[in-house]
Amino acid sequence: MAIPEFHRMLLERHSIRKYTEKPLPADDVKLILEAALLSPSSKSVRPWQFVVAEDKAVLEKLSTCKKTGAVSLKTAVMAVVVVAEPEKSDMYVEDASVAALMMQLQAEALGIGSCWVQIAGRYGADDEPAQELVQQCLGIPENLPVICIITFGYKNEVRKPVDPEKLLWEKVHIGQWRNEQ
Ligand SMILES: Cc1cc2nc3c(=O)[nH]c(=O)nc-3n(C[C@H](O)[C@H](O)[C@H](O)COP(=O)(O)O)c2cc1C
Repeated sequence: MAIPEFHRMLLERHSIRKYTEKPLPADDVKLILEAALLSPSSKSVRPWQFVVAEDKAVLEKLSTCKKTGAVSLKTAVMAVVVVAEPEKSDMYVEDASVAALMMQLQAEALGIGSCWVQIAGRYGADDEPAQELVQQCLGIPENLPVICIITFGYKNEVRKPVDPEKLLWEKVHIGQWRNEQ
């Protein structure tokens, strides 16, 4: 059976942590942000806000917000900071995460690489919460947690597509849970 186009994209998608300097077309940036705004959310409350960062100095500053795992911010040409609104919904982490992934999938469909940079629950070099630096850097109110930052840019590294034969089918239980794997 031919692999459907969307599924092929899923097999080829990988986190990209090195980007070229080529700017992203404004129309593509808009589509990525629209993908976030189109996200499904619990009770359709949409308990999120997004801060777009494109300034090189700001992206560099954000890359210092935690000890490891922020390297993609160093070459990103754009990043979207995903901010949650806990007072609006108890499902804010889930809803913000869905929006983040929607942006990643839209980017991939446009040939743009992306990477998730976890912020909530992560700490900087001086053991201060990563989100405090992000909030201060971008003027985000203290009561609004930063869940993650999604970095974007044209790919400057080659990653192999996933071999569908290597998928962890033992994690799928058809009809009933089975312990034997
Ligand atoms: C909740 C979550 C947190 C992640 N945090 C980071 C991170 O802080 N830094 C990073 O470089 N990648 C991060 N990633 C990307 C994962 O490392 C990556 O998705 C995983 O290694 C699988 O690789 P792939 O995306 O290329 O398939 C995160 C992904 C998720 C879903």
